[in-house]
Amino acid sequence: MCGIIGYIGEKNCVPILLEGLRRLEYRGYDSAGIALIKDGRFHIQKKAGKVSDLAEAIRLLDGTFTATLGMGHTRWATHGEPNDANAHPHWDATKKIAVIHNGIIENYAAIRTKLVRDGHTFTGKTDTEVLAHLIGVMYEESKDLTTAVRHALAEVEGTYGLVVLSVHEPDKMIAARKGSPLILGVGEGENFVASDASAIVDHTRNVVYLDDGEIAVVTREGFRTVTIDDVSVTKQVQEVTLELSQIERGGYEHFMLKEINEQPETITNAMRGRLLVDQGNVVLGGLRHVMDKLLCARRFVITACGTSWHAGLVGKYMFEQIAKMPTEVEYASEFRYRNPIIRSDDVVFLISQSGETADTLAAAREAKAKHATVLGIVNVVGSSIARESHGGVYIHAGPEIGVASTKAFTSQLTVLALITLMLARARGMSEADGRVLAEEIASLPDKVRAILRNTETIKAIAHEFKDTPTALYLGRGANFPVALEGALKLKEISYIHAEGYPAAEMKHGPIALIDEAMPVVVVVPKDAIYEKVMSNIQEVRARKGRIIAVANEDDDEIEGLAEFVIRVPRTYGFFGPIINVIPLQLLAYYIAVARGTNVDQPRNLAKSVTVE
Ligand code: G6P
Repeated sequence: MCGIIGYIGEKNCVPILLEGLRRLEYRGYDSAGIALIKDGRFHIQKKAGKVSDLAEAIRLLDGTFTATLGMGHTRWATHGEPNDANAHPHWDATKKIAVIHNGIIENYAAIRTKLVRDGHTFTGKTDTEVLAHLIGVMYEESKDLTTAVRHALAEVEGTYGLVVLSVHEPDKMIAARKGSPLILGVGEGENFVASDASAIVDHTRNVVYLDDGEIAVVTREGFRTVTIDDVSVTKQVQEVTLELSQIERGGYEHFMLKEINEQPETITNAMRGRLLVDQGNVVLGGLRHVMDKLLCARRFVITACGTSWHAGLVGKYMFEQIAKMPTEVEYASEFRYRNPIIRSDDVVFLISQSGETADTLAAAREAKAKHATVLGIVNVVGSSIARESHGGVYIHAGPEIGVASTKAFTSQLTVLALITLMLARARGMSEADGRVLAEEIASLPDKVRAILRNTETIKAIAHEFKDTPTALYLGRGANFPVALEGALKLKEISYIHAEGYPAAEMKHGPIALIDEAMPVVVVVPKDAIYEKVMSNIQEVRARKGRIIAVANEDDDEIEGLAEFVIRVPRTYGFFGPIINVIPLQLLAYYIAVARGTNVDQPRNLAKSVTVE
């Protein structure tokens, strides 16, 4: 969601803050702002639009906008439209305190009403401005910034990652976290606050992960952490391993294209050191201590949002069909409020690229409160879901910057395949059968590479259909979630309406939409239900729909039926989605490029959804 960066040190922080905001822009990008403290005064610039708009506004100030203490914010609007007034930072009533905030203050309306009664006026519509005023009120009482922040936060309900600066105490930043990620970056004579490490990694690799309910007082020399009740907390400094090259575009036109092309490596990384092909088995250190729980579980529940939920749907096929484990999959946002029947012998998997998605984190807490074993399948190391789970498996896909998830999806599926094989072996699958599956998993990167080498057909299809107002995606079995994911990719980045459907279910509704203009993308690998999907294709053809098939290289029948055929290597059924989704990612990408949309930062979306 929103991006936060703060700096205190000896350098001019404006370029540091702007560069940090540029790196954080994938989290939210409808407005941005910077607050500096210099010569005992605040200097604030904020603008609707991209970080580049803010940078241009600052450039026009002609070098006068410099300081050694400051903070920056890039916003994804929750309360109030994205305009200059609603952009962060926000002032208190005296304009002596400024706040940037990620999250939602749920009781802001009640606080605002009370403040208005006391004579406060507000310039915008955000919950953050209300919080800033509340901190100002608390400062009048305590005359101490840290105490004021503690007292204000004691009154708010909701979530926050925030930074507070004040000209009353121009030697510190106050940072606080509840529900929205925040880290401290520890440097030499300089310190940072950021919503994720990518913003500060070219300055320091030493970070401290704040936990919920913690407040940090950050100075040039160091930091101290307390709880809202003023109890001191000792924090560990940890090293992040992020490389700068991982968060640069590296010659690609878009991060999304870079990330699609990284998949042979990221899938390899997901299995590195874990897949033992010779033994037909898998070792997963993060699950070793919960192996009993996994093997004795009554059932598995997978919960997630967005693309990660699609990975969960494929995971159900793997867990049930190969590991013989009953599995349910549910949107985290539904799970958390449903009062689900969870027992201590259930294992709940949370799948999340960011590890910070608010609904998925809440689902984890719900499952924990009900005494289930809670396991994360997460990309971002040290993220909230990773830290709050009983165990889990990192997918090691590296930073994913494009808002539309691609490489995280295939790595999530790879990890699900690994867990499946490990459990199947532990439950009696023979070494020989295990070896067959292990070899299949090991072959995935080369198969992806083969698809990526040959994108001409996909580009031609993109050119043909770039102006379509709608598209239908069909698949069956484990490839039904692939159809959902293909449709999601298209709508996310090209703004074309698209629906994913189980191919056979089409005749109960979507078939009414099919005419000679309707593109119908069908995932039809040569698996056990190939003939069934071919029948569904016939049904589309009979209504003159324009068929785009994702089919295996050795499929001769499909040419006669489909107008376009995208060839993919043959893959063992339940692992097929890892391969079959690649052309659909590329198709969405090339259509979006042809339409001239902002591929990496599509409108209204955010990479890491830390509000519910
Ligand atoms: C947002 C992103 C999606 C992502 C979803 C879940 O909607 O735009 O790409 O799939 O959140 O995110 P997570 O980090 O939990 O996988």
